[in-house]
Amino acid sequence: MKPSATTSRREFLKLSALSATVLSVNSVSAFPLTKTNKPIVVSTWRNPDANAAAWKVVAANGRALDAVEQGARVPEANPKDTSVGYGGLPDRDGCVTLDACIMDEKSNCGAVAFVQGYKHPISIARAVMEKTPHVMLVGKGAEQFAASQGFKKENLLTRESEKAWKEWLKKSEYKPYHNPGQHDTIGILALDANGKLCGACTTSGMAFKMHGRVGDSPIIGAGLYVDGEVGAATATGVGEEMIRIAGSNSIVELMRQGLTPQAACEEAIKRLIRKRGEEKAKELSVAFLALSVNGEVGAYSTNDVFEYTLTTPDQMHSVIRSESYF
Ligand code: GLY
Repeated sequence: MKPSATTSRREFLKLSALSATVLSVNSVSAFPLTKTNKPIVVSTWRNPDANAAAWKVVAANGRALDAVEQGARVPEANPKDTSVGYGGLPDRDGCVTLDACIMDEKSNCGAVAFVQGYKHPISIARAVMEKTPHVMLVGKGAEQFAASQGFKKENLLTRESEKAWKEWLKKSEYKPYHNPGQHDTIGILALDANGKLCGACTTSGMAFKMHGRVGDSPIIGAGLYVDGEVGAATATGVGEEMIRIAGSNSIVELMRQGLTPQAACEEAIKRLIRKRGEEKAKELSVAFLALSVNGEVGAYSTNDVFEYTLTTPDQMHSVIRSESYF
């Protein structure tokens, strides 16, 4: 086990004991609700352009909700990003199917899953949140709703992604778990100048997945969770693993009990590894990113490949390597 710079094994044990204590007394008031008015944008992986789009909104005193939507739309429109939106690698039947969700500081949320033919699932998710009484629409229903809202239908399978799929078809080896470092779902969190915290998550999911497979990214509590009084968390990697531990929600709840975003991300990854065992977990690429309402950032991953992009008034789109368990 590789101890992180912030938490040695001994410290982790102490932290676990502390967290067990605070959890057992359900001490909600343990969380210091000190808000800052400092805008912060943080996103999974190397996403300076996404952060720049989000920053443009919060730097002009705009809403964190608009910021995360604008940020997520950048990789969705980028054909070179093969894990998100247009240009995303297809499923094993050659269909590009997209998942996304969005959540605001009041726990309003919207999600779409298994959507085909629409480049910006994050904006459809926002429309689900704002224009329907529901939280999630999937498949044909989500597509009908998108059409009714004026979203443009288009082909999302680029020549490059089709070529990669045809190459994959030659062997058709279905190994959904063995892809360390190959996943770059974007999760983006923003704290605006008014202290409002929001998040968005968007993906084309696992490359060459089974038709109909949906991962964590559109699942509120797995790929994304926001509590405007506490903090927000988002995830990237093998979605089945985040769903099993309700990863993003778990991190926010750990933060509510007093853990820092860093300690909460580390605990979530270690929980996942305890359940899977180290041997299997070594093959799983999973990472979490968290932001507290008082402006602290945390990140942790299973393997040593995860990086994230941080934007504050003092740091313009810095790419930071995350600590990892292995
Ligand atoms: N984390 C994205 C997915 O597994 O689909």
